[in-house]
Amino acid sequence: MKNIVILISGRGSNLGALLDAAIPARFAAVISNRPDASGLQIASAHGIPTASLDHKSFSSRENFDVALAAEIDKYEPDLVVLAGFMRVLTPAFVARYHGRLINIHPSLLPAFPGLHTHEQAVTAGVKVHGCTVHFVTPDLDHGPIIAQAAVSVYDQDTAATLAERVLIQEHRLYPQAVRWFVEGRLKLTEDGKVFLLGASPIEGVALISPGDI
Ligand code: GRF
Repeated sequence: MKNIVILISGRGSNLGALLDAAIPARFAAVISNRPDASGLQIASAHGIPTASLDHKSFSSRENFDVALAAEIDKYEPDLVVLAGFMRVLTPAFVARYHGRLINIHPSLLPAFPGLHTHEQAVTAGVKVHGCTVHFVTPDLDHGPIIAQAAVSVYDQDTAATLAERVLIQEHRLYPQAVRWFVEGRLKLTEDGKVFLLGASPIEGVALISPGDI
């Protein structure tokens, strides 16, 4: 069985979706950079060991990342999953977990990297928005795309209503992508593309919830 370590910073709804998805893997630990992250309680309720490493008690980003990697490596993970982990990671950290570090970002990348993605989408007037699971590279929110899910943007949408609908898709998409990883079905090419091995014709297609189109 593959070992997975999940990193969080906050409420942990994606963490909860992953833990509820019956993925055939061992969730070895959940680590937060905020000791008060409510997601830690979700992990504990599932009987998963937790740790917190307060980034504010480190003198530099580099020192924090070294300590974080040491904590992660105790669990010998095959996969490190960022689930609402709100820290920019150093290139050394990212390189250490090359090909086994994934993130979910609440936009259809490459559109709207960074923060406040739903506001950005409303401001830009796009008609389709969504979320992306991708391998992490040193370039923030730019790594090879594993899977995406889309929702329609309605005229009356606000950042908040859009966030709510995208989050529903996040909770479907992330478990699916992690399942593909643990099944060994994700092929990451040197030119930064991801292919799903043994995909049926509909499998690689974006999830669009029926009510949204
Ligand atoms: C999610 O929208 C995720 O895409 C983004 O941060 C949010 C985390 O939410 N990176 P949660 O902690 O999983 O509820």
